[in-house]
Amino acid sequence: MKILVTGGAGFIGSNFVRYHLLACPNDEIVNLDALTYAGNIKNLDAVIGNSSHSFIKGDIRDVSLVDSVVEGVDSIVHFAAESHVDRSIDNASQFLETNMLGTGVLLEAAKKHRVKKFVHVSTDEVYGSIEDGSFTESSPIRPNSPYSASKAASDLLALSYYATYKLPVTVTRCSNNFGPYQFPEKLIPLFITNAKSDKPLPIYGDGLNVRDWIYVDDHCSAVGTVLKNGKSGEVYNIGGGSEKTNIEITDIILKKLGKPESLKTYIEDRQGHDRRYSINCEKIETELGWKPAYSFEQSIESTIDWYMENEEWWSDIKSGRYMEFYEKLYAGRIADASKRE
Ligand code: NAD
Ligand code: TYD
Repeated sequence: MKILVTGGAGFIGSNFVRYHLLACPNDEIVNLDALTYAGNIKNLDAVIGNSSHSFIKGDIRDVSLVDSVVEGVDSIVHFAAESHVDRSIDNASQFLETNMLGTGVLLEAAKKHRVKKFVHVSTDEVYGSIEDGSFTESSPIRPNSPYSASKAASDLLALSYYATYKLPVTVTRCSNNFGPYQFPEKLIPLFITNAKSDKPLPIYGDGLNVRDWIYVDDHCSAVGTVLKNGKSGEVYNIGGGSEKTNIEITDIILKKLGKPESLKTYIEDRQGHDRRYSINCEKIETELGWKPAYSFEQSIESTIDWYMENEEWWSDIKSGRYMEFYEKLYAGRIADASKRE
């Protein structure tokens, strides 16, 4: 099978490419990625040179490029997106462009070339926040950030191509991933790398927001399962079954690295900050027989170890232009928080 993976130089996409080439060595992967700030060719070191993998630097919004790349592929696994909530709050335009328009360009090409399977990789954030209980696939979508709203729009567009054209689309909605090669702007890699360098860990608000955490390899195996057996027109929730507050995550990282509590720095809350994400994953478990294989405790340990062993990977990123956004994001908020005390 020839598979087009979009966003395969990003965090989850690069883990998926590695995972899938091992799991299905007879498949061929074409990897299309624009190498934005979040894409990194070094994430693909282990597969560059593998004859079953080819990399194309290009944008999913480029209609003629996408048309030529999609011609001849059997399936598409669509990861490419702008993915960070804080950046979407700062400026939503790129999120609308890539997540909504880019997905539209891919869907059109998939329709034209009669692709046999289109897995649209989405997020549990489209459901919004829930105080008690968990969202199922039939819960209404109520996204609260420009990021999650742009993902919700692309989910609905993808599903409309099934309803209207019978394009075999399946949507996955996964919870928060962690693991190797995650860009150090997301909570877990940011806090591990800051703690290692004795820098403050900026906790938004009271730190009691809850996320369900899943190890990235488990997300990859779930997407692989959906690619193989998922039903067209259906949505599947994917979760790790491990809900934690941000403070719990912070404490685990500080303890493992032997760093002091004083690195915890409470700052002004994120605007529109969702309090709790929680999803019910019975559908993928009962209908497709998928379950997470890794425990949270085991995989957070191995993830922290990975960042300790791969400092060159993240120190390169943290010394580059990524810092411009972060200096702007945190400087004012840390000062404001100290004014409140
Ligand atoms: P990421 O930001 O690490 O990677 C995104 C990749 O997409 C990058 O390699 C980037 O270069 C590429 N890209 C961005 N715009 C592009 C464009 N216009 N054309 C081509 N390539 C482009 O993101 P991630 O965390 O790996 O997330 C991958 C997907 O999984 C996203 O769709 C995201 O919404 C979804 N998801 C992420 C999580 C999570 O916890 N990270 C959870 C659930 C779902
Ligand atoms: P994040 O990794 O940005 O994922 P998402 O917002 O998509 O769930 O954030 C996870 C949680 O951690 C979220 O509640 C926001 C919080 N957070 C902080 O407290 N400080 C930080 O510096 C970051 C990046 C996140």
